[in-house]
Amino acid sequence: MTGYRPLVFAHRGGADALPEHTLGAYFRALEEGVDGLECDVRLTRDGHLVCFHDRRLSRTSNGKGLVSRRTLAQLDEFNYGSWHPGYPADEELPDLSRLLTLERLLAAVRECGRPVRLLIETKHPSRYGAEVERRLVKMLRRFGLAEPKPDDAVQVTVMSFAALALRRIRAQAPGVPTVYLLELLPPMVGKGRLPFGSRIAGPGVDLVRSRPALLSAMREAGHRTYVWTVNEPDDLELVLGHQVDGVITDRPRFVLDRLATM
Ligand code: G3P
Ligand code: CA
Repeated sequence: MTGYRPLVFAHRGGADALPEHTLGAYFRALEEGVDGLECDVRLTRDGHLVCFHDRRLSRTSNGKGLVSRRTLAQLDEFNYGSWHPGYPADEELPDLSRLLTLERLLAAVRECGRPVRLLIETKHPSRYGAEVERRLVKMLRRFGLAEPKPDDAVQVTVMSFAALALRRIRAQAPGVPTVYLLELLPPMVGKGRLPFGSRIAGPGVDLVRSRPALLSAMREAGHRTYVWTVNEPDDLELVLGHQVDGVITDRPRFVLDRLATM
């Protein structure tokens, strides 16, 4: 027993076992005991924020084409679970097959009766201008989440690979924490500096493997680190060894089981 325990976040709801970004996956992850959920958001043609990773529909639904070219009503026609090996073929499971809007996800976590940390990643700030962040902040305000207080049951953190998106969030909702996601290491980050008031670095595990000094630079600067996507035993041992603050994983059960042995 060391006293150290990182936060565990279910990446896309825990995408290994169940179809990603579905309410069923998010509920399963909460039942398993994660601290929080990770979710990507993008805009539909008629301006709704939906929980969806890819630009295109084809990998994670039976639809085709770009998410951004369809209205929410059109997107609702498709099945978002049947592509996944974890989807039971003989059952009608709306929670595992329906497109999830951010609004539905926020309502569900508010009602779930336990504290939830929600990591929301905006895709793609350069392609859609400021609209994703503007609509996200508007939605957070509606749910009373844009000015967080320490005892709020639902705590939202916004993540992006684009410093521009973090700047927009800071301008509109300065109290909402942000994570600067990293695949590469810009020199300023290597020296412990994060853009636009961000206090959390979000390196990919590949970057942690090749540049572990990043973690100590962040710690010395008083920043936290949330590492993605930690699915393999060696990677989990690596990030636990560095005492990172958050582990984002497609396999929450595997991470939680390992933490139970600490
Ligand atoms: O949690 C951050 C991670 O999700 C970033 O990569 O491609 O899975 O959105 P991606
Ligand atoms: Ca993501």
